[in-house]
Amino acid sequence: MDIDKAALLKFNENADGRGRLVVIEGTKDIPFEIKRLFYIYGSDTGAVRGQHANRETEFVLINVCGSSKVKVKGVSGEKVFDLDKPHIGVYLPKMIWKEMYGFSPDSILLCLASTVYDPDDYLRDYEQFLKEEENE
Ligand code: TYD
Repeated sequence: MDIDKAALLKFNENADGRGRLVVIEGTKDIPFEIKRLFYIYGSDTGAVRGQHANRETEFVLINVCGSSKVKVKGVSGEKVFDLDKPHIGVYLPKMIWKEMYGFSPDSILLCLASTVYDPDDYLRDYEQFLKEEENE
């Protein structure tokens, strides 16, 4: 997987005197249909989540509150994204290693996924992931 396929997305903020509203429509604002969402909160600053790759699932991660960091890596290198605004997300293609860390105490990390949950979609061993990535 080309690491540059992982990229920040900026969503439109519909702002008026009452506040701001962000809309995310599958296939329009993000490059897949949304099949599942989950959110992560209550993680200590020292916690590291993720540490896996997905064979088929694509994700968009958004810190709708607070901040965190997302590191992606693979044979083509590594990158770190700072998520600290509710209208900024990071697109993660399939077959990319990801780690989420540096959570602020108020972090709520919203994760949009292109598939329903399937534990067999996950590669949780980095060496195994590299082998499968090289064979793609
Ligand atoms: P895990 O994959 O370890 O979370 P992270 O990606 O943040 O490291 O998932 C934590 C638990 O939640 C684990 O028992 C599996 C379960 N889970 C589901 O049941 N469905 C889901 O969609 C997800 C993402 C996790």
